[in-house]
Amino acid sequence: MNLKAWKTAAGLALKKAPRTSDEFVKLPGHVAIIMDGNGRWAKKHRLNVSKGHRQGTENLREIIRHTDDLGIKVLSLYAFSTENWNRSEEEVGALMQLILEFFTTEIDELDAKNVRILILGDKGRLPEKQREVLKEAEKRTEKNTGLRLNIAVNYGSRAEIVKATQEIAALVKNGEMQAEEINEKTISDHLYTAGQPDVDLMIRTSGEQRLSNFLLYQNAYAEFVFPEALWPDFSVHDYDMALDAYGRRDRRYGGR
Ligand code: IPE
Ligand code: IPE
Ligand code: MG
Repeated sequence: MNLKAWKTAAGLALKKAPRTSDEFVKLPGHVAIIMDGNGRWAKKHRLNVSKGHRQGTENLREIIRHTDDLGIKVLSLYAFSTENWNRSEEEVGALMQLILEFFTTEIDELDAKNVRILILGDKGRLPEKQREVLKEAEKRTEKNTGLRLNIAVNYGSRAEIVKATQEIAALVKNGEMQAEEINEKTISDHLYTAGQPDVDLMIRTSGEQRLSNFLLYQNAYAEFVFPEALWPDFSVHDYDMALDAYGRRDRRYGGR
């Protein structure tokens, strides 16, 4: 590395202000984030867990904005898993309330920014109010052509694959398709993310290193980054560092 390149690299590493897209070697087309660590953040601050989730939601706005500013095409966020129903009624209630508030307060700005919202997961099990607000957000933004924002609510990847399998089996049963015609694209086309590119970069905050049933099929060749920051502390700068790490990865897809 010559002196000028070294200075640029060192300068960028130290730079805390949000980066612009031309400050990255390459950016992912699809970023997925498992927003983890709200509970530990609340504990660390001796607060009720719901305060941790609230702080996490505050953080979300900045991350979505920065994703949009960088021109990244797809952002998938894990907000509530099918397994999260196992938490206390109080915590589930707090999360449901935050989902409602988030969509109510953010929808105008997201729509104005041409963001297209898609909910990943089964809305059927959600309380009616939440179900309606989520459907409304999807409908209102369905013709938007900017950032594709996928929010996973009552989402489980295995359940998603089961649903896809059932749909495909029904097509075969009705004679609309032959079993031999089923290929990888057939399966992709029956996932919630139909028509979208696979995940390029998967980020899980809080130091945990597992998928927890998130986008198993779509993550087949994703690059993984596991920042230590708890989700409410995960800053735009931490995000830039994860994106920068992605830019330095050599994606080989099994090739030489
Ligand atoms: C992630 O934070 C948010 C949701 C699962 C909804 P957690 O609540 O899982 O936080 P930790 O893992 O307990 O710290
Ligand atoms: C995954 O986090 C789900 C979300 C972030 C919404 P969890 O905290 O629920 O996952 P586990 O229990 O650590 O695997
Ligand atoms: Mg967790």
